[in-house]
Amino acid sequence: MDIQFVTASSARLQARIVDAGAMPPGADAALSEGARASRFAGKPGQLFEHFSGGEGAVSRLALVGAGEAGTKARQRHMEQAGAALAAKYGASGEAVLALDGAGLAADEVAAVLLGLRLRSWRYDLYRTRLPDDQKPSLTRIEVVGAADGAAAAWEQASAVAEGVEFARELVTEPGNVIYPESFVARAQARLAGTGVEIEVLDVAAMQALGMGALLGVAHGSIRAPRLLAMRWKGTKADKPTVFVGKGVTFDTGGISLKPPAGMEDMKWDMGGAAAVAGTMLTLARRKARADVLGVVGLVENMPDGGAQRPGDVVTSMSGQTIEVINTDAEGRLVLCDCLTWVQKQVSPAAIVDLATLTGAMIITLGHEHGGIFANDEDLADALLGAGKASGDKLWRLPLGKAYDKLIDSPIADMKNVGPREGGSITAAQFLQRFVEKGTPWAHLDIAGMVWAAKPGHSWDKGATGYGVRLLDQYVRATLEG
Ligand code: BES
Ligand code: MN
Ligand code: ZN
Repeated sequence: MDIQFVTASSARLQARIVDAGAMPPGADAALSEGARASRFAGKPGQLFEHFSGGEGAVSRLALVGAGEAGTKARQRHMEQAGAALAAKYGASGEAVLALDGAGLAADEVAAVLLGLRLRSWRYDLYRTRLPDDQKPSLTRIEVVGAADGAAAAWEQASAVAEGVEFARELVTEPGNVIYPESFVARAQARLAGTGVEIEVLDVAAMQALGMGALLGVAHGSIRAPRLLAMRWKGTKADKPTVFVGKGVTFDTGGISLKPPAGMEDMKWDMGGAAAVAGTMLTLARRKARADVLGVVGLVENMPDGGAQRPGDVVTSMSGQTIEVINTDAEGRLVLCDCLTWVQKQVSPAAIVDLATLTGAMIITLGHEHGGIFANDEDLADALLGAGKASGDKLWRLPLGKAYDKLIDSPIADMKNVGPREGGSITAAQFLQRFVEKGTPWAHLDIAGMVWAAKPGHSWDKGATGYGVRLLDQYVRATLEG
């Protein structure tokens, strides 16, 4: 999407953002009566379209609602207005849309554009027979008469869009295309020239470090695992903030094989890793004044003759041993070695891990909130706040000794699953056993948020890019604020 700031536009399709109950000044009778008769009231995302003829040419005007001015939700409503335009006109046949910037603040213009861009993202790479009338047509937005500073505000917002889009792309790609090595290659290509430093651990390096938990998951796959570390040093700090992502590029369950129905969803079991990679891109693109290390554990979980068995005991990099009761509880096995590695590498200001860790999380919170578990009140509050501000919402769940006991094992230091009850909590307890005392840590179980069955605020059905805006907002408010 090409976005230009202009003084005048000759585009036939025009859009105006309208506050609740306020018709645009100078609206003629046909327009105001048409809007009234269509019950257009300027509600957030509400859209009314009006064709009018004059001077030999027909013009097409869209009024989009932005709700009431002066509310806390104003920016989100502006995004919603932009998203409504994208949904309506993305494949409408129109190529150019002129957005009337008059009366909008610079950051409101940027929010409309962000909604427009995010909602129009789609991935048509594998569609070779898309009928012409379904092809995306809208390629350019001309913003007319925008306030001073709108272009600069958009520059910042477009860094966010890039990160979200990159995360969506990684999530959307199937398991035969995105596997550990190709994930690394794509991240390297996308982050090249941004200033993000990259380090990659291969199997030999991970063996030397004793990452028996992560490597055990990889045993059943012909795809070699990788650990990918991405560092953005936008400021001098000896204590970086660390984001860790689960990157299971496909999760069959392993020998504890999943049932066939819906297994294709497990291509997005790397949604945590995608969120971390996307965030690194955003931070670098907007030159965030923060020191952030992103680490993702990339593994494919497959069943074959080399796969680990239920009952196997593996030794993690921390030295703690794990009885693998269920090979489908693989995410925690990948993450625990990543957690140990980052704590050996740096002295983290805080660690936040993101993972599509448990189906139980979807049963608990549905698709409205990611779950957050934390050992630190300030970190939890900061993330909950960032969730509200960014729209990537979180809801806190408990940790505690009694839950922790549920993963004690008769043969090893712990087992990788507890009872069915509280499945998301025992998964979090497992991870906490790998976090050193005094390190602020939060675990975000985002199983219900990575993929959407229906269109939402600023996404179509499919990959949402959840997590990028959350982490970016956390960095803004906590590290740059
Ligand atoms: N990747 C899954 C969790 C998941 C399921 C995410 C559905 C998104 C949608 C994870 O690796 C898994 O299989 N978890 C098991 C844990 C169980 C064996 C304790 C689960 O949730 O069933
Ligand atoms: Mn699994
Ligand atoms: Zn998984």
